[in-house]
Amino acid sequence: MAGSRGSYYSALKRITKAANSAFGLRKICNSVAKSTAKAMQANGCRILSLNSRKEYLITVGTYGLSDLYLKKGPLDARKSLPDILEGRAVFIADATEDERVQHPQVALAQGIASILGVPILERGQAIGEIRIYTREHRQFSEADKNFLFSVADVCAVIFERAELHQLLAQDYKASERRGKPSQLSPLPTTTLRPTRFAHPSEEDFAKLLDFYCIEWLYEPRSFPLRWEGGKIAEMFTPDFYLPELDIYVELTTLKQNLITEKNRKLRQLRELYPEVNVRLLTKSDFLRLLAKYGYGPLGEAKVEGVDRVLYNHARIQRRIRTLARHISRDYAGERLVLVGILKGVICFMADLMQHLSLPVTLDFMAISYYGVDGQVVKITKDLDGSITGQHVLMVEDIVDTGMTLNYILDHLSAHNPASLRVCTLLDKRARRLIDAPLDYVGFETPDEFVVGYGLDYRGEYRNLPFIGILHPGLTKGEQLQE
Ligand code: IMP
Repeated sequence: MAGSRGSYYSALKRITKAANSAFGLRKICNSVAKSTAKAMQANGCRILSLNSRKEYLITVGTYGLSDLYLKKGPLDARKSLPDILEGRAVFIADATEDERVQHPQVALAQGIASILGVPILERGQAIGEIRIYTREHRQFSEADKNFLFSVADVCAVIFERAELHQLLAQDYKASERRGKPSQLSPLPTTTLRPTRFAHPSEEDFAKLLDFYCIEWLYEPRSFPLRWEGGKIAEMFTPDFYLPELDIYVELTTLKQNLITEKNRKLRQLRELYPEVNVRLLTKSDFLRLLAKYGYGPLGEAKVEGVDRVLYNHARIQRRIRTLARHISRDYAGERLVLVGILKGVICFMADLMQHLSLPVTLDFMAISYYGVDGQVVKITKDLDGSITGQHVLMVEDIVDTGMTLNYILDHLSAHNPASLRVCTLLDKRARRLIDAPLDYVGFETPDEFVVGYGLDYRGEYRNLPFIGILHPGLTKGEQLQE
């Protein structure tokens, strides 16, 4: 059984009206899901948003699905329905048998027989998915699919608008703090956030995660703990899931009666789901955990003077491994001299060289700046060894105006190396004054003053294990309010 032309037409009218309403993202998506399911005479509908790294899908709107079905955990985008990522529709005739269904036992418990999913596309790229669920085995017609593709197009517009709102709100807050006019800055890793927190401490925790650029999902999965007569009698829903660390986090205060009850549930959960990594944490426990994972200095909720983390430790390490792979491939069979400029490059150099599968030697130079605006470069320490006839890779922490690089490259070329290339972790392209040839670039950085991971402001912050944006007031000599 399928919807008729008339029902599709009136559903689309309702859907576009909801899309153009002033409601929040979740309410709009719930309304779209309801109209879509009803028009298609389906039992449920779910609208999902892909996270910005296209790793997993987050539910942003639903109709007709039980809480358990929704809280069955974040869906791995590649395992879930890879065709969706490629921009194709997916039809699953039997949800309990098909290996593309990630939680078939839940589908079985919910009596879901068939699923039709179509991608939500933005300029040809999948940014989400809309899924239809039916209890009876169903063959979907061309008209059904065309209707669902049209709804997906409306969803793309809804997502784009919601993202723009979030971006503007974030930018407004940032520009208020900076006291300078609005300038759009990149969003943290998760884009669509339809979250309402049950408790203010959870919101604080989410803000802390945002500061560290750690992606989080709020209450994405419920774990049944006890059954009575075939029905679930007790469940446990941890507050957060952190995909990058693959841990579920339940927040707790120091109230002993709450801790005892939560510990009991956690013990049960670990017995029933031994593969699940779940922690009961107070805020200070969490900070210790961050330190262990290399995310931040021990005992500090936020680093004074740093507005927010731009690239966390894990992201820097991932990028460095990729750069090292490219360098190792390009110089295969050769020996390489890595030349670094002290001191900003120390962390980057140390990590990069450990991932190179080539014989390498190291050399360092040091420079100082003088002149009216510090625009004249002077070498205070030259190379220790000869680079004549050698393959040289100059390793830089950040290229800003390009003046330093230009000067050093001239200096190095005068020694007649066999080849001379440049690898920089950060490229602040917007500020370039002199064209600088960059062969390997870690990240193209926004026009902000950044610190950490070797980079300093007046000699400080080099020891941070991440790269963060310095509070703009500091470079203008303001006192910190905190
Ligand atoms: P350039 O000569 O303008 O390209 O600047 C290069 C040097 O300026 C870098 O090697 C850094 O030492 C410093 N620098 C430029 N931008 C930043 C920043 O955002 N944070 C920290 N140091 C920076």
